[in-house]
Amino acid sequence: MRVLVVGSGGREHALVWKLSQSRGVTELHAAPGNPGISRLAELHDVATEDIPALVELARRLRPDLVVIGPEAPLVAGLGDELRAINLSVFGPGAAAATIEGSKAFARDVMEAAGVPTARRLPEAVAPCVLKADGLAAGKGVFVCPTATDVALALPKVEAFGGELIIEELLVGREISVFAVCDGETAVALPVAQDYKRIGDDDTGPNTGGMGSYSPAEIPGGLSATEVLDRVHRPVLRELARRGTPFQGLLYAGLMATDTETFVLEFNCRFGDPETQSILPRLDHDLFELLLGAANRELAADIVEESEDAAVTVVMASPGYPDSPRGGVELRGATDALEPDLLVFHAGTASSGGSLVAAGGRVLNVTGIGRSIDAARERAYAGVAAIEFPAAQYRSDIARVAVTHEA
Ligand code: AMP
Ligand code: GLY
Repeated sequence: MRVLVVGSGGREHALVWKLSQSRGVTELHAAPGNPGISRLAELHDVATEDIPALVELARRLRPDLVVIGPEAPLVAGLGDELRAINLSVFGPGAAAATIEGSKAFARDVMEAAGVPTARRLPEAVAPCVLKADGLAAGKGVFVCPTATDVALALPKVEAFGGELIIEELLVGREISVFAVCDGETAVALPVAQDYKRIGDDDTGPNTGGMGSYSPAEIPGGLSATEVLDRVHRPVLRELARRGTPFQGLLYAGLMATDTETFVLEFNCRFGDPETQSILPRLDHDLFELLLGAANRELAADIVEESEDAAVTVVMASPGYPDSPRGGVELRGATDALEPDLLVFHAGTASSGGSLVAAGGRVLNVTGIGRSIDAARERAYAGVAAIEFPAAQYRSDIARVAVTHEA
């Protein structure tokens, strides 16, 4: 079977790596991919925003499955265009992807489906959270405990244009729960913890994610299946009722407070870097799972996960997230795909026979071990073996989990 993966990040490298282990997969393609992915798949130089060129590529390759990684092509309708030429696609169409593309739409669906989320407030008065409605690559949300924060955030959030959403500020612990969905049914993936802030101890600005670990506990004591019953399945039913069924990965970003588990956001695709810690723990054929969802015949009630733990540390360029400075040469274990150490490429490029940093988040180093502690040690030993001058990375990924385990 032939598979095409759309995207070029660490998430897509992890997807390609796991798909390369599926029995049925004989041919892998990626558009545009990256130097790490090029070891496992044939690359096609087509940007993820170039919908017509991606459709043309798919028309030519006739893959048995297309997996769309990032949100932008999903929200732009790539899934619809590929289904229109009779391809099996893992990833929702534009209408269902609006669950990520518009926070106002997501709130509307949650209200109709009876899913708990933060209350909307009439005025921007602290404490509150200000959100731009549309896609903002994680930069359109401003948590404002004080009036000064509100005054600083208002012009920034208004600069995005579109609707301004003001929510009550919830305090609790965050976790993301992913479900593979075929439009009607859903199955939970292993749970992973993400680290959003750039600095140790959750300091500094928000990023796309600086690390992850799995397995992780859902704060508040719910199991992943219970979360699916309360959150994902009601949302799937509501989207199907509206005539826009969701086939793909429904990502719920949750906040557990003392009293309730609220949804903060939905994403319409795999999380990055959560996926890099989840997929190595999957004791399940990924191709079968994703193809089942794409063909509306998801057979699995449960996805088997291994006993091993995985910890992923993101190595980012200096200046990330505001103004990353790329160009430095990378050396060392940048090609590791070993049983207990995986280095997934994100913003890397080949230049004159060398590997160079070419983006904000550059490498994702995943350690595997019998415990979180062992996986964490392996991941940081992997980081230490990589020469990446002035790299930024957090030194506390999975530290809390280690403490809890002890
Ligand atoms: P979102 O893109 O909506 O998930 O928001 C990004 C981040 O902002 C979340 O991961 C939370 O840390 C924070 N956040 C969003 N909404 C709220 C809220 N209502 N209360 C507290 N924090 C929030
Ligand atoms: N790691 C957060 C995200 O993928 O949106």
